[in-house]
Amino acid sequence: MTRLRSNPETPKKKRGSYLKEAADRRQREIAERISKIKLQDHYQTTDRTCDVFVGDCRQILRSRLAELKSQVHLVFADPPFNWNRAYDRWDDNLTEANYLELTYEWIDLCVQVLRPGGAFWINIPDDWAAEIVCYLKGRPAVGREPLETPLTMQNWCIWHYRFGQNVTERFINSKVHALYFTKGGAERTWNSQEILELSDRAAIYADPRTQSKKDGMPPGLRVPMDVWYGEYWGRIQGNNRERRGYHDNQLPEVYLERVIRSCSNEGDLVIDPFLGSGTTGVVAHNLRRRFLGCEYSTENARSAFDRIEHGPVRPLGQARGKSTAIFPARGTRKKPTA
Ligand SMILES: C[S@@+](CC[C@H](N)C(=O)[O-])C[C@H]1O[C@@H](n2cnc3c(N)ncnc32)[C@H](O)[C@@H]1O
Repeated sequence: MTRLRSNPETPKKKRGSYLKEAADRRQREIAERISKIKLQDHYQTTDRTCDVFVGDCRQILRSRLAELKSQVHLVFADPPFNWNRAYDRWDDNLTEANYLELTYEWIDLCVQVLRPGGAFWINIPDDWAAEIVCYLKGRPAVGREPLETPLTMQNWCIWHYRFGQNVTERFINSKVHALYFTKGGAERTWNSQEILELSDRAAIYADPRTQSKKDGMPPGLRVPMDVWYGEYWGRIQGNNRERRGYHDNQLPEVYLERVIRSCSNEGDLVIDPFLGSGTTGVVAHNLRRRFLGCEYSTENARSAFDRIEHGPVRPLGQARGKSTAIFPARGTRKKPTA
């Protein structure tokens, strides 16, 4: 592929259209590959470690409960937000009561398949975060019994991006909540060493204390903060290399990489009830986890399966050990680097 950005000779005006052309070409190649994937209700990778099921995740999980109950190490769910988005098939404009009923239903099933100590991550906007947090903590919801096995909140993370929809009558939205809960009954998996970043003390102040840390972390590194942003962390725009056609809800691969590395190990079972373009599947497969995804739309499921088979856009691990400092190093005006 031509690397247009790095060529200073490329006329500025034309660069945008070259990028668009390259993105369109990529989409055509992907569409061509997808068209060769047969219409099925179940896809499995040749190494038999990843399954993609087509249909409503509630039906799929319910029908496989006997086999999945208490077996799953990590659930990552990025449901429709009920924002009236033009999904391929799903109706994204339910009444509030219906949306919440649906939400509690899939949450119940995910909690049942989680094993003791398992991690449950939910990507959700402001609209529904409060209701979901209360429900997961075991608070009664309107017209519904409380969750049988309440979970423990570990973090309420924020994914911060800088291309939220422009509005003028209130503040521009620039975040989604990444809720991290765990099931009791066993120790949780927490691989902090897998996700470290350069600390601000090291990146900005070159503070010698960061070189002999007492918290068990390697020199200069820290566990990331609970607000997530940085290189590769933006929303996936139209001409982004990661972009899959027709998916305006696609999450960045670095997001799933952080979740999967920190909360599961090789060989563990990861599931995503709302697979979409397949981000969770492609990262889980690349990190040698077993994976099960559900997707309501056959077209999306085929596209996600193709993506899982072809691997991530850039090699994983590129965001690890980097700085996310927002100030330049003292004494220089350069952006801090690892
Ligand atoms: C927000 S998108 C997920 C995006 C995904 N995280 C990614 O990075 O591409 C939600 C997806 O869930 C699918 N979906 C909606 N309701 C569903 C259901 N009940 N069962 C399974 N999939 C569903 C939609 O078709 C859509 O593709």
